[in-house]
This record gives sequence, structure tokens and C-alpha cells, in this order.
Amino acid sequence: MNDYGQFVLSIKKKTGIDLALYKEAQMKRRLTSLYEKKGYQSFSTFFDALNSNQDMMNEFLDRMTINVSEFYRNAKRWEVLEEKILPRLMKENSRLKVWSAACSTGEEPYTIAMVLSNIMPLSKVAVQATDLDLNVIQKAKIGFYSERALAEVPESVKKKYFHKEGQYFKVAEDIKKTVAFKQQNLLSDRFDSGYDLIVCRNVMIYFTEEAKDELYQKFNAALRPGGVLFVGSTEQIFNPERYGFEAEDTFFYKKI
Ligand SMILES: C[S@@+](CC[C@H](N)C(=O)[O-])C[C@H]1O[C@@H](n2cnc3c(N)ncnc32)[C@H](O)[C@@H]1O
Repeated sequence: MNDYGQFVLSIKKKTGIDLALYKEAQMKRRLTSLYEKKGYQSFSTFFDALNSNQDMMNEFLDRMTINVSEFYRNAKRWEVLEEKILPRLMKENSRLKVWSAACSTGEEPYTIAMVLSNIMPLSKVAVQATDLDLNVIQKAKIGFYSERALAEVPESVKKKYFHKEGQYFKVAEDIKKTVAFKQQNLLSDRFDSGYDLIVCRNVMIYFTEEAKDELYQKFNAALRPGGVLFVGSTEQIFNPERYGFEAEDTFFYKKI
């Protein structure tokens, strides 16, 4: 077995994370540049170092998961959500159960809560937010952001739901209270069910076709009939019917 193949097996044994479900060329490139930066020559010597040094392991976990996010990412999509998708979901259900899957540092689940607050009382909303990476979950719970993360936030929302503290912007407590964070691996853990809306954006691009196939099916099973999967702007699903979905709008898939 080659150096990378053995590394993938060792990491799976040590952490439960299966790197074989991520696109290989991309992942290999990212990790090679990390171990070279640290002065290692191969995946096998790198693994020995990770195995005996928790800080290095944390840095590896941080590098393998790309955590970039922002509030109202691709703002036009959030308008479609607010103006077209949510009104239908609310007609069908007076309380909404929503999941931000691969939520990173919290910008996405907090955006969901902000958008929902425009059209219904937050007491009727439960937003769950999950990510593989515990570091980002910790940051998400703190809820402090630099101005860069707020570039697409409408001015009225910025006034209503953010407090400036020094250089940072703090998310308002009533928005924070709506979101519950938890660690979860989308590729191996079981999913809750009965969701009206699942938002999973900008993570599936890193997964292999086989991993995506399985994930679409698991998302479908986790939604109630009529519930919607909202994906990232480069993550259109070809043949959504294969997985029990129909396109309700670009990047929004309704469970049939
Ligand atoms: C680029 S961020 C996307 C954040 C947000 N959804 C957005 O669109 O702005 C990708 C996130 O996926 C997470 N991730 C990667 N692999 C994962 C897995 N197997 N299970 C759950 N989350 C994962 C990473 O930790 C990272 O926070």
C-alpha cells in the first residue's frame, strides 16, 4: 500500500475520520503542504508525529477541514429561501425544525435564525448546527466575528442582531439561544429526522461521488415529506429524483 493509503487507514483507526471519502487529489495536496511545512518527508513520519502530539493532531484536523464561512453567503440564495421556500414550509408546519450541517464557525446557523426571525417568532424555531471540527464549534458558541464575516449582512439585520465590541461584532443573545451546536461526522454518524429544512453548503464539494450519493440519501431520509435540502452554489444535484428529491429552485431540493 502507498504512503497516503496507509496514512488514511491509520487516521481512520485513530480518529474514526475516513479520509478515503474526501476527493483524494485535493486532500493529498493540502496535507502534503502541511507536513512539508512542519519538516516531515512522508505521510508515515507525519502520522507518527500526529500520533504522539495532540497539538499537531489538532492542527491536522483544522487543516483537513476547510472552515471558511460568512453570514448570508451568496445573499441572493437567502432571499429565495426567505421569499419562496420558507413561506411554503410554514404553511405546512407551524413550527420549523432546521439543521445546519457542517456549520463551521456559526455564520450559517445564525444566518438561518436571522432570516427566520423576519417571518416567524423565534420561539417556534429550533436550529441544530453540527460540524466535525470541535474548534469551530467552540468559536461558533462564542459568537464573535470580524467585520469581514459580515460583508453580506443587510444593514437592518446588522443593526438589529449584532453589537460592536472593539473590532468585533457579537451576535445577539436571542439569535444565539435559537441555535444548538453539536459535534457530528456527516460521513459516519447517524442523523436525526423530521427536519423541515436541512442547510448543507460548501462541504459536499470535498467529498467523493460515492460519499455524496450516500449523503443525499441520508438527507432525504432525515427530511419530512415536502422538506427541503439547501445546498451550496457550486453543489447542484444532477438527477435529484434518484435520491427522492425534486428541484424547487436552483440549489433547493424538495423531498418528494
Ligand atoms: C467551508 S466550511 C462550510 C461552512 C458553511 N456551511 C458555509 O457554507 O459557509 C466546511 C465545513 O465542513 C466541515 N466538515 C468537513 N468534513 C465534515 C464531515 N465529515 N462532517 C461534518 N462536517 C465536516 C468542516 O469542519 C468545515 O467547518
